[in-house]
Amino acid sequence: MTCDITWVRISGDTHQHCSALQDVIDILKTMGRLLDQEVECWVVVRLDSVEVVKNVFWVGAVDWNVRNFHGFTYSTHRGTTYNAYLIRDKRIALVDSVYAPFSEEMVQRIREIVDPSKIEYVVANHVETDHSGAISRILELAPNAKVVGTARCKEGLQKHYFGDWDFQVVKTGDEINLGEKSLRFLEAPMLHWPDSMFTYIEKDALLLPNDAFGQHLATSKRFDDEVDERILMEEAAKYYANILWPFSQLITRKIEEVQRMGLKINTIAPSHGIIWRSNPTRIVEAYLKWAAGEARKRTLIVYDTMWESTEKMARAILEGVRSLGVEAMLVRLPLSDRGDIIKELLDAKGLLIGSSTINNGPLPTLAPFLEELRGLKPSNKIAATFGSYGWGGGAVKAVEDALGRAGIQVVSPSLTVKWVPDVDELRRCFEFGKEFARKVLE
Ligand code: FEO
Repeated sequence: MTCDITWVRISGDTHQHCSALQDVIDILKTMGRLLDQEVECWVVVRLDSVEVVKNVFWVGAVDWNVRNFHGFTYSTHRGTTYNAYLIRDKRIALVDSVYAPFSEEMVQRIREIVDPSKIEYVVANHVETDHSGAISRILELAPNAKVVGTARCKEGLQKHYFGDWDFQVVKTGDEINLGEKSLRFLEAPMLHWPDSMFTYIEKDALLLPNDAFGQHLATSKRFDDEVDERILMEEAAKYYANILWPFSQLITRKIEEVQRMGLKINTIAPSHGIIWRSNPTRIVEAYLKWAAGEARKRTLIVYDTMWESTEKMARAILEGVRSLGVEAMLVRLPLSDRGDIIKELLDAKGLLIGSSTINNGPLPTLAPFLEELRGLKPSNKIAATFGSYGWGGGAVKAVEDALGRAGIQVVSPSLTVKWVPDVDELRRCFEFGKEFARKVLE
């Protein structure tokens, strides 16, 4: 049985409900069963977009609850955002999208500004699913839109979504004219995937660099001048240390390339977190500093202990470091968050690692941290190792090997104590810390 629908009222207590019902209405309209004037739509929760600059709108999503990213390699204590940007011009473009579970939230925000079917370009600055997850949904709504990205992006998206999409490959210097505004593209390979690129809008001096300059920070605010600066920089540092650190040389070169191109940049709108509008130079300078390996003369002591002997050593070493006025921080694995420790290391010249010996090696709890160091390859750090043992030993040697694989220079002979440290041995620990502090101060 079929019938003509003459009146529809939409209501719901969440935007997902409203968005889903809106889709039903769209289908009914397509079938000719419903006329526009017969629809009454009551949306309880309105999802506002935010105008970043004139006719460029943030239409992303805030993920308040995500606590782990990249498969539990990055703790996101403060959640994150997936930032997508809609450019309203003679031709409409969407730059990046959101993680797939937030597709309808993004669509809802777009609907507040334009009919999604009018989108002509979907720019994919990066393949990773937190930014490309909603492309399929957008292309359902805008089936004639072109997907724009690098050659590697095309390959990556195809291998993620298997879509038969109209794709326009772009490279550095290519432009797409939208009317009053133009999108200019700048490839940024390995920042932080091979496919990555930046999009630049000269008319607005606006850079959309995707992951670069981002932070995992969920907030109801969108701009740097609206949030606590200390928290913002802390999250920006954590993001750099955990994601971009291995690519530091490329970052320096990319920033220099942008400077050589003479691009004026008033606003940097990354695809995670806060938009830098009040002082974009701040984050660029921070990136140059982190990429150069500049850190404060402080020491991070990372350890784990079986029966507190290595812990006693760590505390005595800490006192030795402090005795020369060098700031020190004691961190026991695995009680502390690995992503936070990596962030602390970004701003510490010295790293001391301690472990009891078990089965001729370090405690297994150190393994994820040591593996993280191998991958991140922090530059300009100095290190030394310490730990207790019962008979054969072996922990400090294994940790030194791991430091070598991470490219971190070991500057002092390791310090070991058999069984429980006595007073003389604790004094040696103090001196060990003091000697290491001297090297930090050099
Ligand atoms: Fe935020 Fe590389 O994705």
